[in-house]
Amino acid sequence: VRNGNGVKGLVDSGIEKVPKKYIQPSSERIHKIVGSEKSPYQQFISPIDLSLLDGPNHDQVVKAIVNASETFGFFQLVNHGVPVDLLESLKLAAHQFFAQPSEKKAVYLPAEGRSHLVKYGTSFAPEKEKALEWKDFLNMIYSNDSEALEHWPMLCKEVALDYLKSSNQMVRRLLTILFENLGEKLEDSKLDSLIGLKMVNMNFYPACPNPDLTVGVGRHSDMGTLTILLQDGIGGLQVKVEKDLSAGQKEEWIAIPPCPGALVINIGDALQIISNGRYKSAEHRVRTTSKQSRVSIPIFTIPKPTEKISPLPQLVERDGVAHYREVIFQDYMNNFFGKAHEGKKSLDFA
Ligand code: SIN
Ligand code: FE2
Repeated sequence: VRNGNGVKGLVDSGIEKVPKKYIQPSSERIHKIVGSEKSPYQQFISPIDLSLLDGPNHDQVVKAIVNASETFGFFQLVNHGVPVDLLESLKLAAHQFFAQPSEKKAVYLPAEGRSHLVKYGTSFAPEKEKALEWKDFLNMIYSNDSEALEHWPMLCKEVALDYLKSSNQMVRRLLTILFENLGEKLEDSKLDSLIGLKMVNMNFYPACPNPDLTVGVGRHSDMGTLTILLQDGIGGLQVKVEKDLSAGQKEEWIAIPPCPGALVINIGDALQIISNGRYKSAEHRVRTTSKQSRVSIPIFTIPKPTEKISPLPQLVERDGVAHYREVIFQDYMNNFFGKAHEGKKSLDFA
């Protein structure tokens, strides 16, 4: 953990098997082949064409987005408004950042105190985890353009900022659709506060000599509003189907295969809380692979930390019960980042 060059440094040093601290208990290990091809959840893998919102198939597209959000919590989008060449530049920038010598990256370790807007790290909560995740990351918090350009790493700042801006309209459209379906017209100011905090991550999963023993990311749900994820062509992202298991039944996981030009969208805990459980903040995880290093680049849209988040009153009335209590989102985040990834347990806080 103290190694300033993360998992990548370990791999570059030439290890042939993973150190013990990365070996997961058998319950957390990930099989390569998941989900039966006949599973009805496979329908959520084929991308939705967002540009069709502007044509005669508008209602169908809305239905597909709502249906995926209510049952699976994940969907893929194409023609989302983020230029495809920018997606390529982002993946390249991620590779370039992590390919740098360790001293170039280590300046962004929090202990260096360089800027609270940038963090280079490894695993998720290394001090709290029983087994470490096979992943390094760069986290960039957005406050405003000039601070981003001043503090974010040179190799990433322009593309990351472009990515944030060019995805903004898509995020607003999706949230407007999802709230309309709940009977709530989203005022601009309310929408702003739902995505009042934004972060861009660059995740790097080095090729792993023992993919059967490790995880890239352990099972978790995202804590925010919506996550926008760019993944490269390697694959490994898996989503758990939410259902009650009868005796002897196994968990069902569906792989989200890479799709050229697509972005993966998923519901975060904040939206599950606000929708009183209608929208699913799905549990997901990432498998490692021995072949090539993988990158993924999520944007996390998160409620403004001072915002109070609770189920919409009309839904509580309709459902006869509030499934979650009101939380100040800063408290929710502190709890989320203070613990190891543990499935959907983060929602127990609300
Ligand atoms: C994550 O959910 O934390 C990462 C997802 C991915 O890399 O595909
Ligand atoms: Fe995630």
